[in-house]
Amino acid sequence: MRRVLFFLLIAGILAAAAALRPGALDFTAETRQAAEALPHATSAADRGVIQFAYGDWGALSNHTMEVSAVPWKLTTAALALAEAGTPDATPNVDLAATFRQWGIHSPERIANWPEHIPQPTRDAPLGQITGVGRAAWPPIEVTAGNAVCAVCHSSVTYGADGTPDTTQVWLGMPNTSINLEGYTQAVFAALKAAPDDAALMAAVMAMYPDTSLRERTTLRYAILPRLRGVVAERDAQYGAFLPFQLSTNGATNGLDSLRRRLDLIPEGEVVTDSTFNSIPDLQHRLLRRRLLLSGSYALPDPDTAMTPASINDSSREALAAMIGYFTVPAMGVTPDVAEAHQPEALDVVAWLETYSAQPYPAPINMSLAAEGAEIYAQNCASCHGTYDDDLALTSFPNWHGDVGTDPERARLVSPEFVAAANDTLYGAYRAVETGGYSAPPLTGIWASGPYLHNGAVPTLWHLMRPEDRPATFPVGGHRIDMERVGIDITPPEGFTPWATPGIVDTAAFGMSAAGHEVGFEGLTDAEKDALLEYLKQL
Ligand code: HEC
Ligand code: HEC
Repeated sequence: MRRVLFFLLIAGILAAAAALRPGALDFTAETRQAAEALPHATSAADRGVIQFAYGDWGALSNHTMEVSAVPWKLTTAALALAEAGTPDATPNVDLAATFRQWGIHSPERIANWPEHIPQPTRDAPLGQITGVGRAAWPPIEVTAGNAVCAVCHSSVTYGADGTPDTTQVWLGMPNTSINLEGYTQAVFAALKAAPDDAALMAAVMAMYPDTSLRERTTLRYAILPRLRGVVAERDAQYGAFLPFQLSTNGATNGLDSLRRRLDLIPEGEVVTDSTFNSIPDLQHRLLRRRLLLSGSYALPDPDTAMTPASINDSSREALAAMIGYFTVPAMGVTPDVAEAHQPEALDVVAWLETYSAQPYPAPINMSLAAEGAEIYAQNCASCHGTYDDDLALTSFPNWHGDVGTDPERARLVSPEFVAAANDTLYGAYRAVETGGYSAPPLTGIWASGPYLHNGAVPTLWHLMRPEDRPATFPVGGHRIDMERVGIDITPPEGFTPWATPGIVDTAAFGMSAAGHEVGFEGLTDAEKDALLEYLKQL
């Protein structure tokens, strides 16, 4: 009887494999963590933080598996097999450590998780969501994996001396060590190197012994042949999974990801002029009328100043639509699927309204900071906004323009890109060419180095001293330089980075560290010190 069932299953799955194309076999999956946490939520903000860390956004589906979702058990088994050598040894591989080298966290707890909701337990590193997709006939079952907001928008916490604490992360702060390119390349190499299907399946079973017969057969007969085909095809075409570089350390390539989704990268072409965006902290973002550092998603009248009183339901809805749209490049969903998740995006906006960055973890010299506050008010507030004595951002000018920083990122927002994005955008924001950059709020700035849109300047001290900015410096797994405020590029003897660092090379395309002398010109060293002290507490 079992044999007959088994053959029926195989027959079904072979039929499925033949038919495995978007639409033929629809499944979507949810994450266990969201299902467990949502019943404890007592507000929209609670639901928002859950969606931010564990929402599926419709991105665990057969459709996204054609784009950016992965068959999680197969890809992690391939990674473990590459590391361990034999299937038997794969359970000994510490996957948390494997992912940590690419800046992907596996913390013990989330420091700013709501207290009344139990801390989520992990099946995968933070920001990597997994869920089981099933179809009744053909009888498919597969654990899909994808990356959600928290993979880029979460940070290790820092101790008083700037030492990173990988056991506790802070959602909403930037992951300044994320290296999605390293992760993608490793998966690609591991799949290419996996000796044969039997060994890979043996690794899956060694690591995930509870895998059902249905999932095993799906992986073996439907997914694996297809995956091997894709790897061979992409290898011949690009020598990589993707026709562009997905990230450097701490900076990601959202523009090419979206261009690919909008079919703007011609078949067979490899993009060589990519730029990478440093990830920002997410506090005070509701005051912006232009999003992205290049300001290329704009509301009507984008140059209007905003105050907390000008935030209303239509501005919340607009931001939510934009946030949802980010799942198109980041998670591989279609704009329609993104739009269908507007309620979740609105919850994320509600959470962002309550969110604050990790406070600066060391004492601040308050009299020096008070001197710095005056310099800030005179030299910086006209572009970066006005903070009151309690450090609330009371007015934000939405200044946009050219301060002499590297022009390539803004230039790459081409008329062609703008038109294609506007065909699929569904909220109040429109894609626009800008030719410049939008001054961001500086809240949480102490932990969001390296600085500028391209992450080309390691510390605020260097930003204030254009002539001293280094040509190259390491980023990834770093500690915070508490004196110069930013990435510690000369860490003390014995410090081991928690992720594998990469080198920022300011001679590379789009990576110039020049510009933004405005505001700093004419300041004495003493004034710069005072300003630095003030900026620490924002
Ligand atoms: C692959 C990494 C990545 C993922 C995943 C990601 N983001 Fe981002 N996010 C970025 C980067 C990089 C920027 C800055 C881009 C720029 O300025 O050009 C950004 C910008 C933003 C901003 C705009 C900030 C501003 O004021 O301009 C918001 C809000 C935001 N992200 C929220 C989200 C949410 C919510 C999700 C999940 C639905 C998400 N992001 C997923 C990398 C990511
Ligand atoms: C004329 C407008 C203007 C003034 C004045 C100005 N800035 Fe900026 N600032 C910008 C713009 C635009 C950017 C974004 C540039 C980029 O990323 O290429 C920026 C970026 C920054 C960043 C990097 C932010 C990040 O997330 O990486 C910091 C820090 C900063 N400014 C601090 C200051 C300080 C401190 C002052 C006052 C001494 C100041 N700025 C004055 C326009 C201004």
